Amino acid sequence: MSVSYDPARVTVVDHPLVQHKLSILRDEKTGTKQFRDLVSELAVFEGYEATRDLPLEDVQVTTPIREATCKQLAGRKLAIVPILRAGLGMVDGLLELIPAARVGHIGMYRDEVTHEPHEYYCKLPQDVDERICLLVDPMLATGGSATAALEYLRKQGVSDIRLLCIVAAPEGIKAVQDADPNVKIFACAIDEGLNENAYIVPGLGDAGDRIFGTL
Ligand code: PRP
Ligand code: URA
Repeated sequence: MSVSYDPARVTVVDHPLVQHKLSILRDEKTGTKQFRDLVSELAVFEGYEATRDLPLEDVQVTTPIREATCKQLAGRKLAIVPILRAGLGMVDGLLELIPAARVGHIGMYRDEVTHEPHEYYCKLPQDVDERICLLVDPMLATGGSATAALEYLRKQGVSDIRLLCIVAAPEGIKAVQDADPNVKIFACAIDEGLNENAYIVPGLGDAGDRIFGTL
């Protein structure tokens, strides 16, 4: 049975370079170093899309030729919040794009039998409620981990959250949308669904293990 979610609240970042890189990422023969590099590169593309609507303000700049009215970012600052462990793989790419962002961490692991998320660590910037949060995790499977992380961020008073994942299952998108009607979701691909172990099909396997070489 197909899972219905609201496609208007999901952005699929399907640039040709993204699709090409994602195919290599999915390949079981891709080794740890290349896998890690690709996760970081894909995070840059996602970050680019997820920050497309950031407000700008005028700034006066003196070029070597003359004065010019240019643009700079205005308004609220950003926080990048990876869900540990696999989310860590997306942080460096995003920091290349937004070097001034603060980084918070939410430690969460999925019980192998029940697939329920368990929180084990949280450390966020003190002014996180004043920031736009990019919540990052390569995999959105059942949505349990992302939903728990979103709930935690909302409790801290964060109003603008953008969830960046690389591969999403329809089940995870629906679970997140049902739990949090205001979150914006970005994914490089939406796959077919989940298998009996709640792994994404076709997916790319265990993202954390492939990033950190703990297979
Ligand atoms: C993976 C992944 C997500 C979660 C997705 O983490 O990185 O956090 O599973 O599954 P869900 O949508 O069903 O919650 P995992 O628990 O394997 O931990 P790890 O990142 O430490 O490998
Ligand atoms: N976590 C992963 O790393 N991969 C999946 O397919 C599901 C959860």
